[in-house]
Amino acid sequence: MITVIANLKGGSGKSTVAFNLALWLMSRGEDVVAYDLDPQRTLSDVARVRSDDEIMPVLEVNIPADIDVKQSLNNHSCHVLVDVGAANLTAMKAAISIADRIIVPVQPSQPDVWATQRFLKIIKDACENGNDPELVAFINRADTHHAVRESDEAEQALTMLEKFRIIPNRLCQRTDFRRTLSEGLSIFELAGKGKGADEFERFASALYPGLKKLDMRQ
Ligand SMILES: Nc1ncnc2c1ncn2[C@@H]1O[C@H](COP(=O)(O)OP(=O)(O)O)[C@@H](O)[C@H]1O
Ligand SMILES: [Mg+2]
Repeated sequence: MITVIANLKGGSGKSTVAFNLALWLMSRGEDVVAYDLDPQRTLSDVARVRSDDEIMPVLEVNIPADIDVKQSLNNHSCHVLVDVGAANLTAMKAAISIADRIIVPVQPSQPDVWATQRFLKIIKDACENGNDPELVAFINRADTHHAVRESDEAEQALTMLEKFRIIPNRLCQRTDFRRTLSEGLSIFELAGKGKGADEFERFASALYPGLKKLDMRQ
């Protein structure tokens, strides 16, 4: 299954989600291959932090040439996670044109909702070949304070956009999520008992409802 984590906006949490989702799937005993199609190379950098610090399991991250994107992504029977960025629209569109699912993290602000609306047009253009991926959006970097309404408003605005399935399990703005990238550790390895880990568990389980933790199988 090819899952592309995408949005036009930088800083919405694409690489954070791709990285943590890859390790969450691996913790379920699933085989994962990751692709980094964003010239920022955040996913490659965080995988390198892991390997430099000899943290197991190893996260394999591939960087194909633009011309090889479709062939490379199609070449696996396991979970394929693809981190893309608007700085390479060619690679982004190639990945979208063969994706089974597109996960769109959206920050709780009006410009981010507008950008997501524009992004739908890019998806539509990239899928002129007839591809019909599932489109999933969710609020990332939600405010932790309940009195702040922006996250509710942004999520409400997303429900108005056609075609998106909204995952109600938001990820909040948390220092632990920020530290995952700098330390090369998933939110579970970094702060397994924290609120961020709980949030990510619920979020990932909503995306992959059938998968159980390895230790629960024994
Ligand atoms: N839920 C979150 N809470 C706190 N910081 C976050 C969260 N999600 C992402 N970040 C931070 O925001 C910045 C941008 O995230 P990143 O995943 O690199 O976004 P993108 O790949 O969309 O550009 C990074 O510093 C990252 O650590
Ligand atoms: Mg990124």
